[in-house]
Amino acid sequence: MEDLKKLITDAKKDFAACKSLTELDNAKSKYLGKAGPITEAMKGLSKLSKGEKPKIGALINEVKQGIELALNHCKESIQKAILTKQLSDESIDVSLPGIKGNSGSLHPITLTMRRIERIFHSVGFDLARGPEIEDDYHNFTALNIPESHPARAMHDTFYINKNYVLRTHTSPVQVRYMKENKPPLRIISPGRVYRVDSDATHSPMFHQVEGLWIDENINFANLKGVVQDFLQQFFEDSSLSIRFRPSFFPFTEPSAEIDMSWNGGWLEIGGCGMVHPNVLKHTNINKNDFQGFAFGLGVERLAMLKFGLDDLRPFFTHDLRFLKQFKV
Ligand code: PHE
Repeated sequence: MEDLKKLITDAKKDFAACKSLTELDNAKSKYLGKAGPITEAMKGLSKLSKGEKPKIGALINEVKQGIELALNHCKESIQKAILTKQLSDESIDVSLPGIKGNSGSLHPITLTMRRIERIFHSVGFDLARGPEIEDDYHNFTALNIPESHPARAMHDTFYINKNYVLRTHTSPVQVRYMKENKPPLRIISPGRVYRVDSDATHSPMFHQVEGLWIDENINFANLKGVVQDFLQQFFEDSSLSIRFRPSFFPFTEPSAEIDMSWNGGWLEIGGCGMVHPNVLKHTNINKNDFQGFAFGLGVERLAMLKFGLDDLRPFFTHDLRFLKQFKV
């Protein structure tokens, strides 16, 4: 009987020394397993006399329950320790600095075009678009540049085939818009254009913004006012002035190059003029009722000046270190 009672104390000691559930499991079979002392004691019961049997039997049960109680107690405390460790291992330090996500940004040319659109929109210009693969008629003929006219040589054209080109300027959108809409017309048309040309200041693909205003009494002074107002807003400089230099475009008459005051000198930023009567004729607008002006500005040129760049190639080489600087 003494031996049996001692089992509880021994088991308690052994269980308490266990550090993991596996260790505890091993200790458990040492006491409660098939070859353990409790099983042995049960087996031995048969050898006892009738008088001793119930007493010893009850004691064995008591001891067994005592061992099981001690076992459960240790199991609980080991599980608790495991949980506590897991919680502390997985705890999150909310005071640590976060990991910043990488967000994209708009391309400087997109930013520039949006700025241009916003300014013209604020003075009543609608937005028009045209195809980049353009037919010969809209890119040249309707703009008063008939076939084999020397003016075609002004543009180093990418030909797709005899009838289609990559548009060399945004002016064909003038023609498309005038054909589809009745005056008064007031639009800008920003977009990509293509020419066989490539160096620090020329890219085979670049952007222009076309402007067109057709109404009953539109004159050269209106043209100059609109362009100058736009540039003053674009560069946030109310002292900025422009000058017109006589020039030639087949689709405008008179025509001018637009120069803008810059760092004490002048910089060319586009071409313009009064829409040629032949263009009006091609688009079924009566030149006696309506006239107007058109202009074309180089978007890259405006972006380079705005952002202080002297090479336009980084706009198209997609180096993220360059592009990231224009995040807004
Ligand atoms: N389309 C001309 C060019 O690309 C610019 C221009 C536009 C000139 C509109 C006059 C009027 O060079």
